[in-house]
Amino acid sequence: MLKTADNNEKHLLFGGCDTVALAKKYGTPLYVISEEHIRERCREIQRDFLLKYNRTKAFYASKAFLTMKMCRIISEEGLGLDVVSGGELFTAIKAGFPMEDVIFHGNNKSLEEIELALSNDVGRIAVDNLDELAMIQEAAERLDKKTKILFRISPGIEAGDTHEYIFTGHKDSKFGIPLEQNIIKKAIADVMNSSHMEFMGFHFHVGSQLFRYDSHVAAVHVLIRLMEYIKNEMGVSTQELNIGGGFGIRYVEEDESKPLSFFVDAIMESIIQGCENANIDVPLIMIEPGRWIVGEAGITLYTIGSIKEIPGIRTYISVDGGMPDNPRPALYQAKYRAVVANKMGQELEKQVTVAGKCCESGDILIENIKLPKIESGDILAVFSTGAYNYSMSSNYNRLPRPAVVLVNSGNDELMVKRESYEDLIRNEMF
Ligand SMILES: Cc1ncc(COP(=O)(O)O)c(C=O)c1O
Repeated sequence: MLKTADNNEKHLLFGGCDTVALAKKYGTPLYVISEEHIRERCREIQRDFLLKYNRTKAFYASKAFLTMKMCRIISEEGLGLDVVSGGELFTAIKAGFPMEDVIFHGNNKSLEEIELALSNDVGRIAVDNLDELAMIQEAAERLDKKTKILFRISPGIEAGDTHEYIFTGHKDSKFGIPLEQNIIKKAIADVMNSSHMEFMGFHFHVGSQLFRYDSHVAAVHVLIRLMEYIKNEMGVSTQELNIGGGFGIRYVEEDESKPLSFFVDAIMESIIQGCENANIDVPLIMIEPGRWIVGEAGITLYTIGSIKEIPGIRTYISVDGGMPDNPRPALYQAKYRAVVANKMGQELEKQVTVAGKCCESGDILIENIKLPKIESGDILAVFSTGAYNYSMSSNYNRLPRPAVVLVNSGNDELMVKRESYEDLIRNEMF
């Protein structure tokens, strides 16, 4: 998908579009998202998971990147949606996303969010704690609704090869119900005794940006023991098991882009074998990747401004965005690779550090990257920014959020308008 255009300057092509022309047309910073790439990933999920294994469902974790148009693409590709807030749910409602294909997650859902989910008949609520369960019971009774319940379990697994802020399945975690017999038995009993809730099964999410499947497999073993336990102790069978997302993508050269089958084949084998050994039925299996679907589908274009050489120390090149459009390097030392979009094929000259424009010394997008000779006005393209960039963006230093452009086979379409200065003060009472 990434080629250089055959012209004098050699420009980076993305989704069949000349990225330098995109930067000129829409301005920078600019998020560029490849529709083709997203659809290809969804089709890989269809082929290598949904069609390959019986009784499976796939959900896109919308926290990675969400717009109404994205909802439409996901729905057209036959996937459901994982939402974690009233705002994500509202976006899906406004986009006309089928509500039965939505799972509502979150470790601190408000009553207002629960009511929004119930009144719109979302397919499932993944319950994180007993307080939330009581709120759902009360609200469902009041609104005369019946809802399907999954319990998010904290399986006590440490997902070794990722940053501590993005591993979530360990025991001391803000997410999920701890694996304590009494707590889990009470939670299930409360649902079984309610005429407004239906117990469907369990959910876990061990962490993000994982390149191995062992944490998922270890969590599967824990969950199978739990399913066996509740079957024997309570006579309750588990109909659904949601194994979360977390499949890793390529950010830097050393990362190896893995096919979905690398993860799901091993996980499915452990589920099927484990259930057979435990003498329980294999539940319907759900996955909910976010980053794996949209991460490599996005790039960000910046214009390079000041170039500062500190002799014998380092050369900083500053771009017209930074931590407000991509907080991941500052948040968890995320690494990115980049090219100069208008100088493709030119010899890499020297090592530089790419800085953002915010008043924070930590606003560094890429440390030590080799680029061609840089001049002010060059266009820098940072790869793999499709996930957790636009969705995590802020207005820090009062920088308006960039526009988002969708590209597909040489066509470009504005997906989200660039914010204006007026947008920055819109909600202020003055
Ligand atoms: C519950 C849940 N599901 C799915 C995901 C998606 O993770 P990823 O984008 O790494 O696939 C997350 C990420 O935080 C999550 O918390």
